[in-house]
Amino acid sequence: MNFSAISQAQLPALLQAMPKTELHIHIEGSLEPELIFALAKRNQVRLNYTSVEALRSAYAFTDLQSFLDIYYAGASVLQQPQDFYDMAWAYFLRAKADNVVHAEIFFDPQTHTERKVSMRTVITGLHQACVDAKEKLGISSSLILCFLRHLSEEAAMDTFDEAIAFKHLFIGVGLDSSERGHPPEKFARVFARARQLGLRSVAHAGEEGPPAYIWSALDVLHAERIDHGVQAIHDAALMQRLANQRIPLTVCPLSNLKLCVFPDLAQHNVAQMLDQGVCVMLNSDDPAYFGGYLNDNYLQTFAALGLNASHAYQLARNSFEAAFVPDAQKHTWYTQLDECFQQFGA
Ligand code: HPA
Ligand code: ZN
Repeated sequence: MNFSAISQAQLPALLQAMPKTELHIHIEGSLEPELIFALAKRNQVRLNYTSVEALRSAYAFTDLQSFLDIYYAGASVLQQPQDFYDMAWAYFLRAKADNVVHAEIFFDPQTHTERKVSMRTVITGLHQACVDAKEKLGISSSLILCFLRHLSEEAAMDTFDEAIAFKHLFIGVGLDSSERGHPPEKFARVFARARQLGLRSVAHAGEEGPPAYIWSALDVLHAERIDHGVQAIHDAALMQRLANQRIPLTVCPLSNLKLCVFPDLAQHNVAQMLDQGVCVMLNSDDPAYFGGYLNDNYLQTFAALGLNASHAYQLARNSFEAAFVPDAQKHTWYTQLDECFQQFGA
């Protein structure tokens, strides 16, 4: 592939057109203020904001916790299966526009079961949107159930027990919410149980937390991918391991910017990670809150860091390599990626 044949002027169109996966998207984080207000009306939920604009203007975060407080409040409008469907369908339409061919979608059941919304309501609504995304948009997808790490392992175990009846509708478990003070090892037993039942596993680690949390996500939880993982850069031995074992990091630049993990995008370390051989790709995390969907992440990161077509190819290829799908599917996608780059002259 001759990447130097693709000019910097062609890059935005290439980033838009190239097929890619999204592996780090919290579906509750795709809930736009307009839909929050529409669902609040439909379900007669009272909001603490008087307008869409007032809500949006509250999206000025200083760290992860300041975001989570408002994110959990936003999710309170979700009550019926149709609400979960509408939220996910809106995400899939955005994903289609960004040439996302496959998405692995996080959901947080505890945010809903705590409000007496059933596991069945959550999962069946989301699953139906996934079925329709395949049929009507050609996007494949799977669901990953995340445990809220600020709650106890016992609460996670109870949640998992409830979810087992729907085990055929999700492919794995993850770990999200407030990282500091809640190390992965707190959830060792529930992750072991999920793995025994044949589920895949991922965990947020090294977003705000230390490299030690990435080590324990790998060694205690046996996470197959690390969500964020950007703090790994401070630990040379860890970087070596991530690179040697091709352990994917699902990096989310606009999220990191909005939650002040990096002071500006030009200081983001994703290019260093790539150069050191780590399997990184870009993701949107909570696009309704962080100012952009997947292609916004690609476009803004490339502009800020001065990345080129070779970087674009590596990131898109990694997004396929890191997906929880059979190898034959990955090879089909690699071929489609090559064809796209060839059309741009590579
Ligand atoms: N980090 C932790 N928990 C989350 C995030 C995140 O970026 N988004 C939604 N829940
Ligand atoms: Zn996340």
